[in-house]
Amino acid sequence: MYFLTHVLLTYTLFQVAAAFKLPFHLPWVHAGLGEHEQRPMVLPPVELSNRIAVIGAGAGGSAAAFWISKAKERHGLDVEIDIFDSNPYIGGRSITVQPYDNPDLQPIELGGSIFIKANKNLWRATDEFGFNRSDFEDGESTMGIWDGAEFRLMTGFSKVGGWWDTLKVLWRYGWKAPTRTKSTVGSMIEHFVNIYTTGWGRTPYSNLTSLVERWNWTDITNKTTAEYFDEQGIDRKWTMEMVESATRVNYGQNADAIHAIEGMASLAAEAASQVIGGNWQLFDQFVKRSGASVYLNTTVSA
Ligand SMILES: *[C@@H]1O[C@H](CO)[C@@H](O)[C@H](O)[C@H]1NC(C)=O
Ligand SMILES: *[C@@H]1O[C@H](CO)[C@@H](O)[C@H](O)[C@H]1NC(C)=O
Ligand SMILES: *[C@@H]1O[C@H](CO)[C@@H](O)[C@H](O)[C@H]1NC(C)=O
Ligand SMILES: *[C@@H]1O[C@H](CO)[C@@H](O)[C@H](O)[C@H]1NC(C)=O
Ligand SMILES: *[C@@H]1O[C@H](CO)[C@@H](O)[C@H](O)[C@H]1NC(C)=O
Repeated sequence: MYFLTHVLLTYTLFQVAAAFKLPFHLPWVHAGLGEHEQRPMVLPPVELSNRIAVIGAGAGGSAAAFWISKAKERHGLDVEIDIFDSNPYIGGRSITVQPYDNPDLQPIELGGSIFIKANKNLWRATDEFGFNRSDFEDGESTMGIWDGAEFRLMTGFSKVGGWWDTLKVLWRYGWKAPTRTKSTVGSMIEHFVNIYTTGWGRTPYSNLTSLVERWNWTDITNKTTAEYFDEQGIDRKWTMEMVESATRVNYGQNADAIHAIEGMASLAAEAASQVIGGNWQLFDQFVKRSGASVYLNTTVSA
């Protein structure tokens, strides 16, 4: 039986939130604290022996287990963690496959394929777990936009995002659309990274709607990327070709259906990286380092 009191949940979320901001290791415990660093909160130990069931061993579940275990380590919290997943593997949507089981082909990352430096926890996990990142800067590649009948645009590029200011792009869409998009996406990321350092990012939230409200993002999550870009005075042709290519590649959705935050996230590909060998390895490490009991192939029905 999994017994989860309200009190435990509150403490756990609170302590996880405190642990979240800290480095994985605490070399500074006897040293001074950095500008944005906070001392762990000291909370009374929880008396009951408690278990937390995490359902799903994907990015969210594995990270939750990892951060709960950090809170446990730092605050003497007495909890045991069990992770369940109906799949036979860890990683959920993040999975790397060998096409046609043919070892001559490149393995393919099926979901959650890239992350950027602003994804601070993934970036840091890659470093601390000793994985190597592939940054797409090697080799020559070509970017093309195919509309089903012909290529609307074809351009060479050396890294993801690097084609934005090529002459062909400027010729087709003008100067304003790529420039405005870049600055709009840039401000979105600047606002986003506050979640790692500010109180409103670290305070527990019970649902995404309330987080989005606190983030002052309600007015851009309740409109589509296309509507939002129209408001910014960005040419529809650019939105329906360049932007929609990115929203389709990243999220399988169209620019006039996906909300503006996610549309902009799909354009935030500067310094896009992935873990060599597959991003799932990060989630695998989160689970291993959490010390949780793992139940794969296990469907939770109640
Ligand atoms: C999951 O179940 C499948 C089918 O029953 C089995 O082949 C596989 O070995 C199981 N995997 C794990 C990790 O338990
Ligand atoms: C990372 O790259 C370095 C240098 O190429 C290599 O020595 C090391 O084994 C790699 N690490 C992993 C985990 O693949
Ligand atoms: C989301 O959280 C807020 C603030 O805690 C709460 O008022 C609201 O009822 C919650 N909404 C849902 C759908 O749970
Ligand atoms: C949201 O807007 C309010 C009112 O302008 C402001 O006080 C608050 O700091 C903003 N929150 C964020 C996360 O920017
Ligand atoms: C979207 O959010 C804004 C700002 O919070 C609000 O004024 C507007 O009514 C919302 N529109 C819809 C369609 O929900």
